[in-house]
Amino acid sequence: MDVYGIIGWPVAHSLSPAMHNAAFKALGQEAVYGKFPVAPERLSAAVEGLRALGIKGVSVTIPHKEAVRSLLQGIHQEAQKIGAVNTILNDNGRLVGFNTDWQGALRALEEQISLKGKEAVVLGAGGAARAVVYALKKAGALVCIYNRTFTKAQELALTFGAKAFAWEALSKARGHILINTTSVGLKEDRSPAPAQILSRFQVVMDIVYTPLETRLLREAKAQGCKTISGLKMLVYQAVEQFYLWRGLRPEARLLEEAALAALTKEERHGEQRN
Ligand code: ATR
Repeated sequence: MDVYGIIGWPVAHSLSPAMHNAAFKALGQEAVYGKFPVAPERLSAAVEGLRALGIKGVSVTIPHKEAVRSLLQGIHQEAQKIGAVNTILNDNGRLVGFNTDWQGALRALEEQISLKGKEAVVLGAGGAARAVVYALKKAGALVCIYNRTFTKAQELALTFGAKAFAWEALSKARGHILINTTSVGLKEDRSPAPAQILSRFQVVMDIVYTPLETRLLREAKAQGCKTISGLKMLVYQAVEQFYLWRGLRPEARLLEEAALAALTKEERHGEQRN
């Protein structure tokens, strides 16, 4: 039995175990996926423990995606450029870091719109924004970044060849695609964008998935935009993780159903997700 898991702090409400275990079962894999809560000060010991225990691979989540890089024996070039590792593969004792978040964003977007030559407005300039901007640029989109802290937008724009704008200029933003990578709307009925700008966009995506339909997506739908929920990016990045570990791509629908079932179960229990 091969063992996989997720390292993060906290990980109690992660949807990854539900998704990966459903895929292992459906594809007849002799493997199991668990949750490993790892406090920041224990990260180094935990990573060494992966090798000592022969754990085949892990997902990496907040707050370890950046710090884990220096503890690995290799980092794939995309993860290097994005500056974050969300997947570790244990290749016979050699731990290699990958990033599949950008692939998740790319597939979720390209399912709705061809990105080449399109203008994309990205809200936020944190870790999630880096993967999204990387995906957009790789697919040939023109990217404008709006962030509350302007200097962070500037840094990100410089790294990836995008344009930076002040948060206050958002009321004048326009383009084909709008993507929220900030935490605004997470478990709250708030939108990061003024509702009146949404009709200027064909597609609006939120990386927040609790709630599944954020206020941003609800308002975008009311304006006639196509909308993409954050769950799509989560599911598609998990499909790519699975592929790195097992060499097979499970049906995204299978993972999505497992994630939705886990979310619903939590809601029934009245728990709060992180
Ligand atoms: P993640 O790794 O999830 O992207 P992060 O790196 O902490 O998390 O980034 C959070 C992003 O949400 C940042 O762009 C942040 O803006 P600042 O750079 O100004 O901090 C943005 N953000 C968080 N709360 C916000 C709010 N209330 N209004 C606007 N932007 C917000």
